[in-house]
Amino acid sequence: MSSFQTLFTKMEDHTLIITINRPDKLNALNQQVMKDLDAVMDRVYKFPEIKSVVITGAGLKSFVAGADVKEFESLSKEDATALAKRGQDVFFKIEHSPKPVIACVNGFALGGGCELAMACHFIIASESAVFGQPEVNLGIMVGYGGSQRLTQRVGKGRAMELVITGKTINATQAMNYGLVNYVVPQTELLDKAFSILRVCHEKAPLSVANSIKAVNAAWNEAENGYDVEAKLFGECFTTHDAKEGITAFIEKRKPEFKGN
Ligand code: COA
Repeated sequence: MSSFQTLFTKMEDHTLIITINRPDKLNALNQQVMKDLDAVMDRVYKFPEIKSVVITGAGLKSFVAGADVKEFESLSKEDATALAKRGQDVFFKIEHSPKPVIACVNGFALGGGCELAMACHFIIASESAVFGQPEVNLGIMVGYGGSQRLTQRVGKGRAMELVITGKTINATQAMNYGLVNYVVPQTELLDKAFSILRVCHEKAPLSVANSIKAVNAAWNEAENGYDVEAKLFGECFTTHDAKEGITAFIEKRKPEFKGN
């Protein structure tokens, strides 16, 4: 995989580890990071050898401390709207990845950083993680899908309080809010993600991809989630992997999925 200006990428056991690599700026999301994330996700969709993704931040202090505020200085209304739309599109691509994407949050996940973590399929946090949407402190607001995804994840009351006060919450509070699935020591973040992804890698790829689609459909107002689920369920039955999985169960053996 060729290199990106702002990302460090590494393949390990069929998982692509994407590290946002601007540690001196606490991995703030400038336009180059967004461009690189967009391009790397295209590869995730395209290459079968990538079975899952982990997104994390370089250094011990920060996952991502937000959009790069320095790029906000002279934005017009039109520029800002377009910037939000572009950011939303990149995060949509992450959320709708057919392969599992886990955010390993290793410190500050503020503003666009919290929004990026929420665009991943779920979040594992280090004990030092801090979450929040502090945009109101700058006289602006969430813009990369945070108002929607935070509400989906923690409910209206908690989302509302976070976005209108700009207050931050620690890893334990984020766990209580249901924002993160696990809190682990910093040194165990990747191991925890790998232990989960190893299990996913053993499953049939289409079962995993269609399961992701079906869960995402719960928030798609254009389509009825139950209809989407029924259609995707039917699609699974066109695969050899479904035949293999069902036969293996009946024959009381471990299935051998081939990805077709
Ligand atoms: N955009 C651009 N640069 C950022 C940034 C952001 N969102 N967050 C941090 N940085 C930069 C700082 O400007 C600083 O750069 P410098 O050394 O060139 O001055 C560097 O990262 C280190 O940050 P610093 O503020 O010195 O670290 P800290 O430990 O004192 O504070 C935070 C950490 C996260 C509390 C603080 O950086 C912060 O509040 N960041 C902005 C968070 C935010 O509002 N995010 C939403 C943006 S829409």
